[in-house]
Formats: sequence, structure tokens, C-alpha cells
Amino acid sequence: MIADVSKSNKIVVEKSTVPVKTAEAIEKILNHNSKGIDFQILSNPEFLAEGTAIQDLFNPDRVLIGGRETPEGQKAIEALRDVYAHWVPVDRIICTNLWSAELSKLAANAFLAQRISSVNAMSALCEATGADVSQVSHAVGKDTRIGPKFLNASVGFGGSCFQKDILNLVYICECNGLPEVANYWKQVIKINDYQKTRFVNRIVSSMFNTVSGKKIAILGFAFKKDTGDTRETPAIDVCKGLLGDKALLSIYDPQVNEEQIQRDLAMKKFDWDHPVHLQPMSPTSIKQVNVVWDAYAATKDAHGVCILTEWDEFKTLDYQRIYDNMRKPAFVFDGRNVVDEAKLRAIGFIVYSIGKPLDQWLKDMPAVA
Ligand code: UGA
Repeated sequence: MIADVSKSNKIVVEKSTVPVKTAEAIEKILNHNSKGIDFQILSNPEFLAEGTAIQDLFNPDRVLIGGRETPEGQKAIEALRDVYAHWVPVDRIICTNLWSAELSKLAANAFLAQRISSVNAMSALCEATGADVSQVSHAVGKDTRIGPKFLNASVGFGGSCFQKDILNLVYICECNGLPEVANYWKQVIKINDYQKTRFVNRIVSSMFNTVSGKKIAILGFAFKKDTGDTRETPAIDVCKGLLGDKALLSIYDPQVNEEQIQRDLAMKKFDWDHPVHLQPMSPTSIKQVNVVWDAYAATKDAHGVCILTEWDEFKTLDYQRIYDNMRKPAFVFDGRNVVDEAKLRAIGFIVYSIGKPLDQWLKDMPAVA
């Protein structure tokens, strides 16, 4: 389409995260249809994150521009660099060849996800030994070579990017005859799946080895706070795990509506990548799921509460009120380490927080991984 409508030379900027060498494919198609017009393809990967997109745009750690190493390619890079130079210091604008730019995007997401899988792997060991993962990650992150960010243990990472980009990287490695490298990165995803399974197992084993017919409140469904996005959210796998054991779920998320939740729970992995009209509609079979608009309604008469997104409002809920309206023993499973465990234990809750020293109750009922 670009070739069809172009009447003068054009720079085409690739911003989406794409398989490495997509620029080459775009270039070939455009050049075969060019009618004498010069097309320069640049790779300018997006690094902004959901919930902080505007800050990330105004104050990026770096901007990456990849282009051909020809004089025309370099001229195109300069043209785009001049656009960013209006608000980004030039020393933060990195210019590379096309493939480095495309691969750096996948590598950056893989490294970020790897940090979470590393700390989540540690969280399992912390629970087994009595160490506290927050203390461990604080101590580790103080090393300036490691740094403090992205070291929060959690029920698992989600979102539309990390898993997809790592699988993309794995695929490229396999295609290039590098199975060892592919397996190395695959392990980041395996630990993420393990962490979600481990969480479900903790819940089931703590609640007398079954959640069948028990009401469990799910607080938070989005893949992280300050977004209503549910793509690849760990909540889907946790809820499916609990539904598999016939739990009754009452779900509350301040930003996600019932239709979305029902759709997500009916979907197979990666269905979300299809257009909405090709996604399954809410099936009547999901009768075990009830979506409410308030944390207190979700937790009323519940046997257990699972916190799956770190929404700020979950820190300041009236947990005494919640406890009073729940069945006993009342459990809290904190998949994001947002609650004050000591306070909740004083109220009477049995509390499980990822990677923290275990309640005596949980020690007596170890999770089967
Ligand atoms: C991610 C990257 O952070 C962006 O730089 C990138 O541009 C974007 O993907 C993309 O490729 O488009 P995003 O998916 O919006 O951004 O979300 P993140 O903030 O990276 O969080 C991803 C997941 O990791 C969330 O589920 C979050 O809860 C989890 N997480 C994050 C942890 O479990 N622990 C942490 O310490 C940090």
C-alpha cells in the first residue's frame, strides 16, 4: 500500500516488535514495487510500558534507531534522530544497524523477564529455607551492577510482550541451529509457568487439599496495576487452576469488566492475539465465576482471598471487615506481596505471601510443585 501511494522517496519506520529481519522483508516488498522511489527502512523499537507510557515517552532511558549502513541509510537515521532530538538528549539516542535494533528489543524484554523469573525462582527457595525474598532482592539489588528495579517476586509476569518476545527469540535461535541458546531462554518461561502452578498448589494444599465448592475471592485480574489489560495475565492461569478443582470464584478488578474476564477464562492460550470477533464468547459453562465491582462483595462468605494484581487500593482495604465476613479459617494468598502480613495475622488470617517465611499452618501442609 505504501508503494502504491508513494510519489517521492520515503523513510518507513518499524516501531512494532517484530521477528528479526522483518525490515528486510519490508524492504524487499517496497523495492520490488518502487517505480524508482527510494525507500529506507528503519527499526525504531518501542520501549514504553503500560501504565507509564507518557513518562517513558517524554523521558526515555534510550531511543534506538537501526538502519542500513549505506549513505542513504545513515541519512534516514539522521532524519529520525533529529525528530527525537527535540526532546531527548542526543547521547540517549543510539544508532545501530537494522538487525541490532530489532534484536535489542527482544533481548531487552528477555532480560527483564529473566530478572523476574530469577527472583521468582529464589522465592521458592526462600519459602523452603525461611529466608525472605524481599530482603534477598533488596540486598542483591543494592549491588549497582545488578540494580534494584524489576526484582519484585510475584505470582508470575504477564502482559502481551514478555512471553511472546521470548518465544520469538527462542524460535530465531532454533532456526539458526542454536538449541542450547533456545533452551536457555525457554527456561525463563518455564519458571514463570512453575510459579503460577506453585501458587495454585499452595492454595489447594493449604485449604485441606481441595477447593471444590469453596468460594475464593480473586482481587485483581489485570496483568499489572494501572491498566485494564489482561493479555497473558497470570490471573488467567491461576483462576483456571482453581476452576479445575471446582472452586467458586468471585472476581474483582477495578479496571476489568465481566465480559473480558469471562472471555479470558474461556480462551485458549494465544487466542487473544486474534481479532475480537474470532475470540470465543462467554460460555455458559463458566457458572463457577462471578464478577463483582467491589472487594468487599467479592470476599463476603469466601473461604480464601487471592491477590493477583498489585492495585494500590488492596493495601488499604479494611481487612478486619473482610475477615469478619469470611468463613473460618480465613486465608489470604498474596501473589504480589502487597498486604502487611503481621497485621493480617493479628486479625486472625492465615497468610501466604510469595517468598516469605511460612505460616505454621502452611509449613504443616507443604505445596506439591
Ligand atoms: C514491557 C517492558 O517493560 C517495556 O519496556 C516494553 O516496551 C513492553 O513490555 C513492550 O514490549 O511493549 P509491559 O508489558 O507494559 O512492558 O509491562 P512491565 O511493566 O514490563 O510488566 C510485565 C509483567 O512483569 C507484569 O505482569 C508485572 O506485574 C511483572 N513484574 C514486573 C513482576 O512480576 N515483578 C517485577 O519486579 C516487575
